[in-house]
Amino acid sequence: MSILARYVPTHYSQINQHLTGVYYVASQISEVSPRYNLGNKLSRLVKAFDRAGARRTSSCIATASTTASLGIPDDSIDYVFTDPPFGENIYYADLNFLVESWHRVLTNPAPEAIVDRFKGKGLPEYQRLMQRCFEEYRRVLKPGRWITVVFHNSRNAVWTAIQEALLAAGFVVADVRTMDKQQGSYRQVTSTAVKQDLVISAYKPNDGLEERFALEKGTEEGAWDFVRTHLGQLPVFVRKGGRVEVVNERQPHLLFDRMVAFHVLRNVAVPLSIGEFLSGLAQRFPERDGMVFLPDQVAEYDGKRAAVEDVAQIEIFVVDEVSAIQWLKRHLSRRPQSFQEVHPQFLREIAGWRKHEKLPELSEMLEQNFLYYDGAGEVPSQIHGYLSTNFKELRKLPKDHPALRDKAKGRWYVPDPNKAADVEMRRARILLREFEEYRRSPQRKLKLFRLEAMRAGFFKAYQDQDYATIVSAAEKIPEAVLQEDQKLLLWYDQALTRTGAAT
Ligand SMILES: C[S@@+](CC[C@H](N)C(=O)[O-])C[C@H]1O[C@@H](n2cnc3c(N)ncnc32)[C@H](O)[C@@H]1O
Repeated sequence: MSILARYVPTHYSQINQHLTGVYYVASQISEVSPRYNLGNKLSRLVKAFDRAGARRTSSCIATASTTASLGIPDDSIDYVFTDPPFGENIYYADLNFLVESWHRVLTNPAPEAIVDRFKGKGLPEYQRLMQRCFEEYRRVLKPGRWITVVFHNSRNAVWTAIQEALLAAGFVVADVRTMDKQQGSYRQVTSTAVKQDLVISAYKPNDGLEERFALEKGTEEGAWDFVRTHLGQLPVFVRKGGRVEVVNERQPHLLFDRMVAFHVLRNVAVPLSIGEFLSGLAQRFPERDGMVFLPDQVAEYDGKRAAVEDVAQIEIFVVDEVSAIQWLKRHLSRRPQSFQEVHPQFLREIAGWRKHEKLPELSEMLEQNFLYYDGAGEVPSQIHGYLSTNFKELRKLPKDHPALRDKAKGRWYVPDPNKAADVEMRRARILLREFEEYRRSPQRKLKLFRLEAMRAGFFKAYQDQDYATIVSAAEKIPEAVLQEDQKLLLWYDQALTRTGAAT
């Protein structure tokens, strides 16, 4: 009903003939009358809203900034779905300026959560505004209930900022996956934003976890309480096309990361090292297909799993040390191998390695994360299992049989959960030594370094309440790397707050 409507002689209907996504007034226009535009629609709208019950349910539509309180009571909302701005791609308030001026009602751009350098809004400001919005969502949501956050962006730093904001507001992230939208929106097709959307599912901690945690904070019991509550929230069995899907969040290392984040964001020292965590986890909770379950969940999983052929493996792209270790782990658990066998395959995998991150030698990575059988003593059960399944002549032999030992010698294998704790502790020591070297290095900015060593160093310094070390080490890291690394950022933000350097 505006002069944006073009006159298109080849079309019978002159409704909705505006060009989408732009302000374009054509030389020939067809400003249609309300009656012509809405006449037919009106009867259909009345019908739609007249469906049984539709009139009786009460609904409320509000237009306001999420940073403002709308007077919604605490703990009263069942579910939140949000599609927040994703950084710098669209300037909503500015785009609306023309139309809003006509109506003489302008959007207040101050709390608008976007990155806009002309308004002095950088990534930190964006993150802070998003955090305020998430805090409001958290306040009104009932405990244990979920928020779904849709996200589309090409920049990792914005992605990290959103997650940081979500965690800092007190949510616990339980799942991140991609969403296939049937149709890309106009901006998505034309701008640099990624075509794949991501969906984050997070929840507000429930069952009095926060209250209990306030009493147990910094104790091992507090940490296990979190893990138990978190496991209770995660999906137990996900099936897709006849195969079981691995629920990433149930993997031991991710559980450790979540537990750490939960503590750090509540400004509490983390009571367990990675080694203690992994062995404690193995003692307390059953594991299936690389996923950890609560005892009562595992029965359900086993029952449903029995009816399904196999587990859909997530494809691993080796881009950094963490994914390289994951790749090696999967590779070696299928087939324990010697260095010479793994090496060529490994070289093929590392084509996508991130430039700034130092690539440790394969030999170093094997030594720091895996175990080696040198031919002495009994053959470890993982190698034994592999050999006796694949070689007929090695079947049913005792574990110290010379033929078996000979074939097993020189192979690297994945430590079982009990030994994993020792291996992790040894690795942590090596990483800390490297961090120490970076810290002492006279270089102002480090060009190439081991991200895992940096993370280990930040973690240790946080535990020691040595925030100055975190801040000074962070200065040595290129800004973009710091902004894109959720773990480093987690400790860095805390360190800034503690040292009073945060604005
Ligand atoms: C990605 S868009 C949502 C698009 C919507 N889902 C749709 O399909 O039309 C993000 C929206 O968040 C709004 N927004 C920005 N800052 C906000 C704030 N502080 N509170 C509430 N909404 C905000 C923007 O105006 C924009 O409309």
